[in-house]
Amino acid sequence: MKIALTLNGQTQEADVWPGESLLFALRERFGLPGSKNACEQGECGSCSVLLDGTLVCACLVLAAQAEGHEIVTVEGLARDGALHPVQEAFVEAGAVQCGFCTPGLVVTAADLLARTPDPTDDELREALSGNLCRCTGYAKIFDAVRLAAGAA
Ligand code: FES
Ligand code: FES
Repeated sequence: MKIALTLNGQTQEADVWPGESLLFALRERFGLPGSKNACEQGECGSCSVLLDGTLVCACLVLAAQAEGHEIVTVEGLARDGALHPVQEAFVEAGAVQCGFCTPGLVVTAADLLARTPDPTDDELREALSGNLCRCTGYAKIFDAVRLAAGAA
């Protein structure tokens, strides 16, 4: 089946299998490998994207459900060649080790700061609680988000 959606600000079309996930379509049909597949069960957050401005796990959304909707992936956060402030802060704070969780964390943190520009530590922890990182111990990730929020 053919779907059309707005992907990182551009109208895109693809032929998809009715049962395939949005995550699969993003990576394999639309050439956007930023969203990662670490569990495919909605547990890790590595596939986090915005669907009409709402944070979702792309592995739990069918590609067909994205028909006519607006999707923003980690690739769509940069503007005019400049990294998003959260992306800059992850680099500056050294919040990346293997990097597998990073795209999902960046999308989640950008969503948090868009809604809550100066989050408390509790709000920050709650917002990022659906994103699992096996490497960093989270301290530098929290530092990065605080840095992006201008609170560090
Ligand atoms: S791959 Fe989607 S939540 Fe883990
Ligand atoms: S940096 Fe490796 S899983 Fe987070």
